[in-house]
Amino acid sequence: MSQTLILPPDDAGIERAAALLRAGELVAFPTETVYGLGADALNAAAARSIFAAKERPADNPLIVHVAELAALTRFGITPAETPTLTSLAQSFWPGALTLVVPRGPAVPDVITAGRATVAVRVPDHPVARALLLRADVPIAAPSANRSGRPSPTLAEHVFLDLNGRIPLILDGGPARVGIESTVLDLTASPPLVLRRGGVTIAELTRALGRVRALDSSTLEAGERDAAARRSPGLRHRHYAPRAAVILTSEEDATARALARAGLGARVGLMIREGAPGLARARAYAAESGRLALRVMPRELTGYASELFASLRALDGEEVTAIVVGAVPAEGLGASILDRLRRAADAGAD
Ligand code: TXA
Ligand code: MG
Repeated sequence: MSQTLILPPDDAGIERAAALLRAGELVAFPTETVYGLGADALNAAAARSIFAAKERPADNPLIVHVAELAALTRFGITPAETPTLTSLAQSFWPGALTLVVPRGPAVPDVITAGRATVAVRVPDHPVARALLLRADVPIAAPSANRSGRPSPTLAEHVFLDLNGRIPLILDGGPARVGIESTVLDLTASPPLVLRRGGVTIAELTRALGRVRALDSSTLEAGERDAAARRSPGLRHRHYAPRAAVILTSEEDATARALARAGLGARVGLMIREGAPGLARARAYAAESGRLALRVMPRELTGYASELFASLRALDGEEVTAIVVGAVPAEGLGASILDRLRRAADAGAD
């Protein structure tokens, strides 16, 4: 395929994207969390081509995006049969919450990777919404990165990963939330958080009374295995820049980075505004070419929205390692830490 086109999401851009989707082609588009790589979810061949473009393992199912809850009836999913689906949709949609529900008969196998469930979400982004309405089909969309890379939060990230593999990217500017949706399995009792994300556990607990999280220490070992089988995405390498990611405490991050740089390596350092050691890191970066410093917002909403772009930017600095200072594990911080830990694990193998 020739060079990928990037268009603004004006009327002509949306129309072109919608026509491509209806013709069974792939289109990358912005959502509030990250950019998605979309295909007509009712067209199995189109959905299959997502896996080729991303080099995604075939056993990892896709999220189906719809403009509103009622659109799920097109798959033969009856919201009334899953009462928590209706109430959560009222509280959190449009938004960064993906719900895993029993699949309807019209959902192609390739989307569910052969499972008895399907993941669904109504995105909170005007461009995603306009595209869903104009194309008038549900859109299957994983994050629009090459498999294993950090999710794209800018059109440029999509271009760098997928240029020549897809016909069109709609450029909606930076994704606001910056990390992916929270994935909640409603077929487990109590509901099980399979992936932390833009909606926090505290928000879900307020709405549902009780939820459990797959990565929580409260799960017994046996339960953990059974639960992990519900979340195929966990088995795969994720969120990895090319450089090794070293996750350490906020207090230790600067010393760790400077020690490595002192040995002659070029090193990246990602710490928050106000972190101890920041002044020292700034001085070192100014006098030595061996430290690429990225100062992140102290506040976690801002941190999340810059996270993946910062990992990609540091990767572009040709560093051998990226040292990252941890954030507190509360609220959105738990979702950020999940991505940082996976980026760090991936770098190790
Ligand atoms: O914010 C997001 O969720 C973005 C935007 C584009 O919506 N999408 C996204 O998709 O992150 P993806 O494919 O990168 O991640 C989807 C996650 C994977 O971990 C996958 O295993 C899980 O959802 N998933 C999808 N369908 C599932 C199912 N039926 N059961 C369990 N997990 C499922
Ligand atoms: Mg992804």
